[in-house]
Amino acid sequence: MRKYKIAVIPGDGIGNEVLPEGQKVLEAAAGGKFAFEWVQFDWSCERFTKTGSMMPKDGLDQIRDFDAIYLGAVGFPGVPDHVSLWGLLIPIRRNFHQYINLRPIKLLKGVDSPLKGREAGDIDFYVVRENNEGEYSEIGGRLYAGSENEIVMQQSVFSKRGCDRVMRYAFELAKTRKKHVTSATKSNGISHTMPYWDERFDAISAEYPGIRADRYHIDILTAHFVRNPDWFDVVVGSNLFGDILSDLGPAIVGSIGIAPGANINPEKEYPSMFEPVHGSAPDIAGKGIANPIGQVWSGAMMLRHLGEEQAACAVETAIEAVLAERDSLTPDLGGKASTSQLGDALARAVKSKTAALAAAS
Ligand SMILES: NC(=O)c1ccc[n+]([C@@H]2O[C@H](COP(=O)([O-])OP(=O)(O)OC[C@H]3O[C@@H](n4cnc5c(N)ncnc54)[C@H](O)[C@@H]3O)[C@@H](O)[C@H]2O)c1
Repeated sequence: MRKYKIAVIPGDGIGNEVLPEGQKVLEAAAGGKFAFEWVQFDWSCERFTKTGSMMPKDGLDQIRDFDAIYLGAVGFPGVPDHVSLWGLLIPIRRNFHQYINLRPIKLLKGVDSPLKGREAGDIDFYVVRENNEGEYSEIGGRLYAGSENEIVMQQSVFSKRGCDRVMRYAFELAKTRKKHVTSATKSNGISHTMPYWDERFDAISAEYPGIRADRYHIDILTAHFVRNPDWFDVVVGSNLFGDILSDLGPAIVGSIGIAPGANINPEKEYPSMFEPVHGSAPDIAGKGIANPIGQVWSGAMMLRHLGEEQAACAVETAIEAVLAERDSLTPDLGGKASTSQLGDALARAVKSKTAALAAAS
């Protein structure tokens, strides 16, 4: 039987509540056809407060040979956010060459969009964010600290390889969809890196004559996300622009609790990491009311990456069915269910979908 070794990092706050629900639903999706070996790691801000580090020194070596990483969320009041980001998430994303950050933006039946008049089916696109370089670099520093002459500099890094590979990924994804890629730029204001980004986008789009390519400056693009979300199919952006768009996207399709994300090493030389978009939500942690759908949906993305397409579809269909029924929703979606009640409903829906598929085949 196929077996996948998964590094499980629940992290902090509601990460510890939603991740077990994700495992529950993925086990249901496996349905005896394949198996998971879950290995849990306590890497978190809680660990940081006890030991001074988010993960052990050899942490990356410990998980390098796993098939994938399934992460909850990290962040805890009192621990600065740059500590959790640079102490855990960024080392994993960079050292494992997870240069694609992928977020589906899809309005599902049963979820209200904050945008007036938008219904399920109206919004369905992907944000592909460059995840390894760009504006988020460690190059920079401070001169004459504390004096009137204080100067701070932060260097952006755009490599040809880095631009080309994320853009090619976006075009390949568009090939399987509505055949349209939009690039986020700002080449009017940022006069070196962004014209280069545009130049590479033109070069890569020339490799894909069957795919429509267009570009918008990031400022008007954010307005179009709100006013014309139906225009988009695949949107590709640098690390910073992609970061902003990949939070705005989930916001226009309803609760942040349902949005999934993936940090992908497409070559599969290293494990990829799958995590919900939301954070550790300290305001609701411990109450058992966190929505597990973002965690579950990122699990479906993990299944697809592992090659389990049918199981991935079963999980996605189950999410749509449970949302549409509206019987087992958590308070963020207007329901009264607990985290585990919604997890149970999703697992049941996956089982019945899997049984139906088995009967049909
Ligand atoms: N990838 C990550 O691990 C990640 C991502 C974002 C934020 N964070 C961290 O999480 C901590 C809290 O950040 P924040 O408050 O800005 O963002 P957050 O996503 O944790 O919470 C924002 C709001 O959304 C609600 N919410 C989030 N997830 C929910 C869910 N599954 N179900 C129902 N409601 C949900 C919260 O209750 C809160 O009101 C910070 O330390 C931040 O750095 C981590």
